Amino acid sequence: MRLIAKGAEAELYEADWFGLRAVLKIRRPKPYRDPQLDAAIRRRRTVNEVRLMSKAREAGVSTPAVYFFDLEECLIAMEFIEGPTAKALLESGRVDVLNDVGRRVALLHKAGVVHGDLALTNVIYRGGEPYFIDFGLGQVVEGGGRRAALEFGRDVNVLLRILDTYGAAAERYKAAFWEGYREVAGARADEVEAAVRRIRASARYVER
Ligand SMILES: Nc1ncnc2c1ncn2[C@@H]1O[C@H](COP(=O)(O)OP(=O)(O)O)[C@@H](O)[C@H]1O
Ligand SMILES: [Mg+2]
Repeated sequence: MRLIAKGAEAELYEADWFGLRAVLKIRRPKPYRDPQLDAAIRRRRTVNEVRLMSKAREAGVSTPAVYFFDLEECLIAMEFIEGPTAKALLESGRVDVLNDVGRRVALLHKAGVVHGDLALTNVIYRGGEPYFIDFGLGQVVEGGGRRAALEFGRDVNVLLRILDTYGAAAERYKAAFWEGYREVAGARADEVEAAVRRIRASARYVER
């Protein structure tokens, strides 16, 4: 097994899964957390990730196939997606990936799926198709109400804040995202945009 990433949350390995090229995502115990609480958190994130990958797929958004998961070890074996991230593509001039991402995020939200960490590194392209990964902090929200719009706004705002770091290109990038989002979400996009504005206004208030 080859270590490919070690985040705050999990270790990721490339592995051979009975002949299939796989990624093993393992959430190891955190020694500084109460053991019972720690086990509960790791288990919840693991089951959450598997459940949301499957929901996303039902909604028409590509995710790695899950080969196996174990809630005792808090591990997921999934399909290895070989390809560039949305970040790499964007930085090589492919602004259109943000259109794609916007459409896919709107599909997730239509199905009530909040991704939870919409970073450009959590989208991997293979054969022109964006695959979404890293759903461990996501959730499912019910209905089309104001509370749901707020959750979708929070979700989108994670990505918008990343796009804000691109200086002079930021506004164009954000517009490309919203264009894709609106294409799928229709008038619901207005409510999510309004939620984003509220979130941003109160964040600025807190910063002062
Ligand atoms: N299915 C996969 N195929 C290929 N690479 C993956 C896959 N899953 C994760 N990775 C790689 O591992 C990194 C970390 O995985 P991720 O699920 O995002 O965990 P973290 O919570 O630590 O961000 C990703 O940014 C990506 O480079
Ligand atoms: Mg990640």
